Amino acid sequence: MILVTGGAGFIGANFVVDWLSASGEPVLNLDKLTYAGNPENLASLQGDARHVFVQGDIGDADLLPQLLAQHHPRAVVNFAAESHVDRSIHGPEDFIQTNVVGTTRLLQSVRAYWQGLADAERAAFRFLHVSTDEVYGSLGPGDAAFTETHRYEPNSPYSASKAASDHLVRAWHHTYGLPVLTTNCSNNYGPYHFPEKLIPLMIVNALAGKPLPVYGDGQQIRDWLYVADHCSAIRRVLQAGRVGEVYNVGGWNEKPNLEIVHTVCALLDELRPRVDGQSYRSQISFVKDRPGHDRRYAIDARKIEQELGWRPAETFDTGIRKTVQWYLAHSDWVAHVQSGAYRDWVAKQYDPQANNA
Ligand code: NAD
Ligand code: TYD
Repeated sequence: MILVTGGAGFIGANFVVDWLSASGEPVLNLDKLTYAGNPENLASLQGDARHVFVQGDIGDADLLPQLLAQHHPRAVVNFAAESHVDRSIHGPEDFIQTNVVGTTRLLQSVRAYWQGLADAERAAFRFLHVSTDEVYGSLGPGDAAFTETHRYEPNSPYSASKAASDHLVRAWHHTYGLPVLTTNCSNNYGPYHFPEKLIPLMIVNALAGKPLPVYGDGQQIRDWLYVADHCSAIRRVLQAGRVGEVYNVGGWNEKPNLEIVHTVCALLDELRPRVDGQSYRSQISFVKDRPGHDRRYAIDARKIEQELGWRPAETFDTGIRKTVQWYLAHSDWVAHVQSGAYRDWVAKQYDPQANNA
């Protein structure tokens, strides 16, 4: 079996479901169930004996050795993290605690377990660390896309904490020989995306008749990857990636935020038109920019394509249509995640009177 951490979050849950249908190999899913972890993301696995869920912290140095000894995984895929840039600006300490301290403790527990394995199992073992393109910093309009050797220049507390975790993973390989793999992926979108992030926030706000808050001039550029394509990339790297290597994962879909919002509005205009006949675009509201907002991310994904033969299956047009359709069909899921804690966050982040830094 494999151990997946953070498997009740957006990408982790998509990965676990995808993994079980693609390979059938059992999964031990360790997740702390923070505000971002949602057992409903795993509802389709209810009663499936191949999925064992444990609520716990990657930094729990008592729990981890116990779980590893009991379940004997052949690999670890580490998704667990605090993941939202805006939250990291309000409160960086949780990010240091999970992404830096938690990753260190996880590495220590996994190293002790790995060192105790029989030779063949030790050689075949893998620790795959899931990271982000944000560790590379911000690009100018004419700069080449990030390659795996791009300098680390993280600008937000989130990206700095992820950069630290990447360095720790690298060091555990170079110093202790732990067989690690690291993936640095661009912005994901798709089903089960928590509506604090751009695309799901725009969909749920549009449907609720609320403003669509675009930071600054809306011309910041991100590269977008449909979550199922990220899952297939991770499966491929785990299967065939070279130990100690880093693989950038991206969708070749660089787009300014405002264009993303316009696309979401156009799809909603087509699939769920407003009763007054107006476009959802009329709800767009330009708001104060995010402090330290990175201008552009772009991923050069040639290494994973050329070495491992991975390519995204979705274009942005097909992926965003599936995503909007999924949110329209899952209004119950949306209603459940919009709990009291979610409302508190939205009030704090989007209140024009509040000091957002
Ligand atoms: P998410 O916030 O939706 O989910 C994170 C999950 O980790 C949650 O289920 C949460 O409960 C769990 N978690 C948090 N702290 C934990 C801890 N200490 N111990 C155990 N579990 C804990 O995040 P996501 O968008 O699914 O991202 C998953 C990973 O992929 C993260 O490492 C993130 O940095 C990385 N990543 C995300 C994106 C993106 O666009 N979302 C892009 C590139 C990389
Ligand atoms: P986000 O989904 O938070 O991902 P990240 O910051 O990790 O790239 O944001 C994507 C882009 O959308 C980013 O440039 C910030 C912008 N954005 C808005 O304009 N309005 C919003 O309400 C949110 C959440 C994000």
